[in-house]
Amino acid sequence: MEVRINDTYEEMSAAAAEFVIRQLRHKPNSVIGLAAGGTPCLLYQLLGDACAAGEVDFAQVRTFSLDEYIGLGADHPQSYRYFMEKRLFSRVNLAAAHIAAPDGMAADIAAECARYGAAIEAAGGIDLMILGIGPNAHIGFNEPGPCFVPDTHVVELSEATRTANARFFARPEDTPHWAISMGVRDIMLAQNILLLSSGAGKTEALYQAVCGDITPEAPASVLQLHRNALVLADRAAASRLPEKYV
Ligand code: GLP
Repeated sequence: MEVRINDTYEEMSAAAAEFVIRQLRHKPNSVIGLAAGGTPCLLYQLLGDACAAGEVDFAQVRTFSLDEYIGLGADHPQSYRYFMEKRLFSRVNLAAAHIAAPDGMAADIAAECARYGAAIEAAGGIDLMILGIGPNAHIGFNEPGPCFVPDTHVVELSEATRTANARFFARPEDTPHWAISMGVRDIMLAQNILLLSSGAGKTEALYQAVCGDITPEAPASVLQLHRNALVLADRAAASRLPEKYV
């Protein structure tokens, strides 16, 4: 695991955009895994800007969203599919047929999980997985628990995660209780992983991810075992990391 610290959120996002653009130039038909949430917003904006400026081309890129709330459709403003549409897909030249996301409205959610995992595999796996991190060190919606769940699965969201994500909903009680998430194996099979972490609210989670024991109680800690995991953090998130990183 490599860790790079930037002074600010803006610098971290610019470094992330540069990393993604380098990946797409190196492999124009890359398969990218995409996290939603507040942290990657500026990264996606910068990728949209770069595409508009002709600096990067998404024509052959394929994407897989990392997770989705159950019960929210693609047209629901708080669904991750809607988020990705607004933040990235509508701003780059990505083909509609190259966009994949778990369907939170599927009638048979177990079948949907199986379908989604198989679709990732059929695409040849993920070349670059873009991750955020929850305040409890979750990745995707892989919540802390007694074991890692390998495959795409249904998750009952913890109260900590519902509280953290309530800011996106009109009323806190509207925050869904259930989600579909790629599993830890889905994530760990990616060729490259880019984890973004910003702000003082992530300090403890980032410490657990980088320096803590590798344990499903801090799901992001598993990334320590990945061959090509890059952590980009701003100073606020990195404030507990040991001297050698800072
Ligand atoms: C959410 C998402 C994750 C995201 C994380 C951090 O619950 N499921 O994919 O990375 O929490 O979100 P944020 O960047 O808004 O802090």
